[in-house]
Amino acid sequence: MTINQQSILFVDDEQNVLKSLRRLLHDEPWAMFFADSGDKGLEILGKEKIDLIISDVRMPGMDGIAFLKKVKGLYPHIVRIFLSGHADHKAVVQALAEGSAQQLLPKPWKNDELKEVLRGALKQAAALQKKNEGLQKIINSLASLPSMPDTYLKIKECLTNISNVSIDQIADLIEQDTSISAELLRWANSALFGQRHQVDTVKRAVLVLGLDIVEGLVLSESVFGSIAPRAAKGFDLKTFQTHSMACGITAKVLISELPYMDPKDEDRAFTAGLLHDIGKLIEARYLAEQFKKIIITARENKISMLKAEYEILATSHEEIGGYLADWWSLPAFIVNAIRWHHEPALCNADREIIAAVHVADVLVQQFEIGASGNYTLPEADPEIWARFQLTEETVSSMKESLLQLLD
Ligand SMILES: [Fe+2]
Ligand SMILES: [Fe+2]
Repeated sequence: MTINQQSILFVDDEQNVLKSLRRLLHDEPWAMFFADSGDKGLEILGKEKIDLIISDVRMPGMDGIAFLKKVKGLYPHIVRIFLSGHADHKAVVQALAEGSAQQLLPKPWKNDELKEVLRGALKQAAALQKKNEGLQKIINSLASLPSMPDTYLKIKECLTNISNVSIDQIADLIEQDTSISAELLRWANSALFGQRHQVDTVKRAVLVLGLDIVEGLVLSESVFGSIAPRAAKGFDLKTFQTHSMACGITAKVLISELPYMDPKDEDRAFTAGLLHDIGKLIEARYLAEQFKKIIITARENKISMLKAEYEILATSHEEIGGYLADWWSLPAFIVNAIRWHHEPALCNADREIIAAVHVADVLVQQFEIGASGNYTLPEADPEIWARFQLTEETVSSMKESLLQLLD
């Protein structure tokens, strides 16, 4: 293997599959490794530099899902793809949603299609590696990563066992935190969730909002609460939080305008919008000196914060926030929306949610509602913007209702 050669690890318990992959790809320029079990795959990963893993799902012993989950924890920078027959569909969809793998290749495969996917994935791996160098440096410079907020952890645990837990128990748990309770009541009474009667108990608020929204709000409240930065000059936490909320609301409204969307996606877009810029909180809290410089550079040179971040940190709030969300094992749609909200075209998963957050982020800055830390107006990706078919009328009524909701 030469220094710049890219490498792929194939894991499948069927020797025939490994053999035909070896035969099919023998004249490609990649270094290739083959393992017939997850354990052997991990052994190879301990010794070799691997860029891409293609793993079967059904294997005796450690199956592909457990294997890629382990890889994700140990080597998060490696691109991971499932090779799977459709019999495994349900478990695989679940694993994809959790971010254990980024993509699915069908089995049996078409040779050309397989090669195309491998080429694309290796390109992605190379781009990630280049970007990751800046991110790694920053992550390594932090003494420790912020841990997942306690209240969220408790509520998450409760929601995971939902079949054994009553709404009363969830409400009791939330009531222990007064600021989160107040926040839930505020949202349950807001026009966004259309209640005609006053909602005055946490239990009622949980019923009105639904568990997905409750989880999103608890998460964002506890993140804002626990990582509250010593506000850097030129960065105001309160207006930043308004920016985040406005993005959540707008992303929810935008998704509701798209045809064929699951109502659950509206809730997901709301949560993703609330959290999309958490990378900035990490910067403000843990990299205070550099963060001040970023703000000054952006303002003086009239460039976007993102550009200033790359100049000063060689990484961005997208990458730092995405890394943290992934480390906290937040759902993949949140990780992806945080990671790609400025470059939505680069992500193939959760496209509508990312698109909604991207457009929402641009809109609320145009409306001058809250502050994201930017001193220049961001531009939207024209293709993604066009998907929402926004008219002047819809845009101005969105602004009106946003102002009312945030009042
Ligand atoms: Fe952003
Ligand atoms: Fe933003």
